[in-house]
Amino acid sequence: MRIGVAKEVKTDEYRVALTPAGARELVLKGHDVLVETTAGDGSAFVDADYERVGARIASVDDVWNESELLLKVKEPIASEYPRLREGLVLFTYLHIAADEPLTHALVDSGIRAVAYETVETADRRLPLLAPMSEIAGRLAAQAGAYFLEKPLGGRGLLLGGVPGVQPGRVLVVGGGVVGYNAAIIAIGLGAQVTILDRSIDRMRYLDEILHGRVTTVMSSALQIESSIADADVVIGAVLVPGARAPKLVTREMLGVMNQGSVIVDVAIDQGGCVETAKPTTHSDPVYAVDGVTHYCVANMPGGVPITSTKALTNATLPYVEAIAEHGLAEAVSRDPALALGVNVVDGKITYEPVAEAHHLDYTPLDEVLLAPA
Ligand SMILES: NC(=O)c1ccc[n+]([C@@H]2O[C@H](COP(=O)([O-])OP(=O)(O)OC[C@H]3O[C@@H](n4cnc5c(N)ncnc54)[C@H](O)[C@@H]3O)[C@@H](O)[C@H]2O)c1
Repeated sequence: MRIGVAKEVKTDEYRVALTPAGARELVLKGHDVLVETTAGDGSAFVDADYERVGARIASVDDVWNESELLLKVKEPIASEYPRLREGLVLFTYLHIAADEPLTHALVDSGIRAVAYETVETADRRLPLLAPMSEIAGRLAAQAGAYFLEKPLGGRGLLLGGVPGVQPGRVLVVGGGVVGYNAAIIAIGLGAQVTILDRSIDRMRYLDEILHGRVTTVMSSALQIESSIADADVVIGAVLVPGARAPKLVTREMLGVMNQGSVIVDVAIDQGGCVETAKPTTHSDPVYAVDGVTHYCVANMPGGVPITSTKALTNATLPYVEAIAEHGLAEAVSRDPALALGVNVVDGKITYEPVAEAHHLDYTPLDEVLLAPA
């Protein structure tokens, strides 16, 4: 199959959808890999790295026009809509339930669009979102520690303390993938860590794998209110699948927090779980409300593209290989997790929540995408 890798055009997006190592695997399996010139630059992969493993470097027009399967990181933006076309399989993060213009552009183009974020295993894991949550969680603890420094507007406290001086306190609200990863870095830095969650099973699991090095507490409005009064860093990491993040930390609660403490609202990409949170960027990541620093970068993994690009390729490559080897129809018939990733096929919406979000018709995937007999 001819597989294209497009360069990302969104502001501040430095990731690329395929590493040279991934390209090598595909070339070895006999596929033709076409990489847009300078697509890997932001992740420290130059064109020559791709050429060395047998990929071809091509112009933006050639990559979009000649590919059968096109790999990207972010959803197409308006300037890319004219490039969407029938016969192309697009594999990328799409998030179209929240993007009506893109949904229409995909439907009207006749493209086959597979979204990383809706690929879902039988045990309800999201294998192509997890690596980004891991990165965001780990970064959240780092960002919290950093913005506690006095010259940056923080309390002026070293999260890990030193012998003879108490460490700082980190409160993680939501102990899923983000929360767990935030916790292990915060523990590593020497902080005292508390995780609030609503799932008792999840807290049992966290307690077990973290060998009791965190305190887990059932999440409630009252508990959040009392816990944030002691916290130096609060990390918002909740997710209610299919819904906007609940506002668990209200503006009123900020009043009980220490001046110069830091809130990192990782859930900001789902609207944020802190009432006073609004999206920020890597170039201007923080602002203060009532003396509390807010860090609300909506695309945290974009700040560490070398790591993110590799983690993304690690997760996507098995699916890319399956589509390339069998074609989309056969690949989804073999793998129900991948089938859930298919959002739009030949003008029909095949992922129910997207159809519902935009009050459009839903067509079951097996009615439009039949595996060859
Ligand atoms: N800003 C970024 O760059 C970035 C990157 C990756 C993920 N995220 C976001 O981070 C959030 C968390 O993602 P995740 O992968 O960890 O999700 P996850 O499903 O693994 O974990 C979410 C956790 O929140 C818990 N939860 C739900 N309601 C709660 C409540 N009221 N109080 C306490 N806990 C509650 C759940 O029980 C679950 O354990 C999501 O909104 C995700 O979109 C943001």
